[in-house]
Amino acid sequence: MTDSDTTPETDGGIDAGTGTESGSDGDPGDNATPVPIADPELSTDARERVATILEDGRLADGPEVRAFEEEFAAYCGADAAVATSNGTTALHAALEALGLENGEAVITSPFSFVASANAIRLAGGTPIFADIDPETYTLDPADVRRILEKRDDVVGLLPVHLYGLPADMPALCALADEHDLFVVEDACQAHGAKVDGHRVGTCGDAACFSFYPTKNMTTGEGGMVVTNRDDVADRAASFVNHGRNVSGTGSYDHVTLGHNFRMTSIAAAIGRVQLERLSQFNRTRRDNAAFYNEELADLPLETPTEPADRRHVYHQYTVRTDDRDALAATLEERDIGTGIYYETPIHRQPAYETVSTAAARLPASERAADEVLSLPVHQELSVGDRRTVVEAVRDHFTSQ
Ligand SMILES: Cc1ncc(COP(=O)(O)O)c(C=O)c1O
Repeated sequence: MTDSDTTPETDGGIDAGTGTESGSDGDPGDNATPVPIADPELSTDARERVATILEDGRLADGPEVRAFEEEFAAYCGADAAVATSNGTTALHAALEALGLENGEAVITSPFSFVASANAIRLAGGTPIFADIDPETYTLDPADVRRILEKRDDVVGLLPVHLYGLPADMPALCALADEHDLFVVEDACQAHGAKVDGHRVGTCGDAACFSFYPTKNMTTGEGGMVVTNRDDVADRAASFVNHGRNVSGTGSYDHVTLGHNFRMTSIAAAIGRVQLERLSQFNRTRRDNAAFYNEELADLPLETPTEPADRRHVYHQYTVRTDDRDALAATLEERDIGTGIYYETPIHRQPAYETVSTAAARLPASERAADEVLSLPVHQELSVGDRRTVVEAVRDHFTSQ
């Protein structure tokens, strides 16, 4: 473990799992050191940058936040970014900025953290669930097309880049063009992932990121809307700041209804340092995933898919097996953190009982919810940790 001393409890449902320490270079099978499912890394640089902000005293919105926005937009290859208090508020602000009106329908994935659909409801819209492609766990364009052929109230698509793998954006954007829909990418789990060589964030009208501690980069709590559209950037910036007039003169000039969804300067300071390290974090995650792919290839489980046009950043390394619960129990016995993302698809959540579109049957999502298990893949895993994970998974299947 690094010098981060708080183990996050949830990550939009992502539990940090067992243990507080990793870093063992022990022998394969040496499970004396727990291997957590997530382990955020906060460097000395981040602490120093935060200390500077504390000394400066400008704790809320300010130049540090503006600098983080510019740097994050540049990283994504986008024209603009608007920092927010978390990923959920980023999604909410993006939908408001795109003019979602009460009751209008937005198609999204039921196999995601609940915030993807909650943001649509919080912005006044109605989530419509299309099923996922069982290989990639992301929105199935064929099912989206089927819905678009039946309904004429859909105004937008909100695909989720689940586990760090982008959804099939070329196919989804083609459908959006055909039906005149907006596209908001839920990139909360996919910082730095690519489609056709371009980083996610510019495939649609807006993209939203979360900086929760277990994500590929963190600010503690935080979020970002990224867009190439000036109008969307301006409206989102106003919405997250009480509807203030972004180009106006007076700071108490409120032109629309808005929230306080602003990011703090402390969060931005951490984010700027994390962003400098993101590419290295992602390379390490990919390297860990490649190791697992090779070492687990002969076992009766499915390892993650990476279509040729996409670059996965392995926010999660998720395997699939009908023996999921027993495998999770074996790993737990050995103090290896695992996670089920997500055991209950959104349309089956109690909070969705009153949402009429949640009555849909979505077999691929429901099956995935019964079979997926995420293994530790984060950047803090040592060579010994990942061997420990492989050994435990292999022992589970070979002892049967
Ligand atoms: C796919 C997805 N969407 C939205 C969110 C919401 O982000 P936050 O927890 O920062 O509000 C998360 C966070 O876990 C997520 O994983």
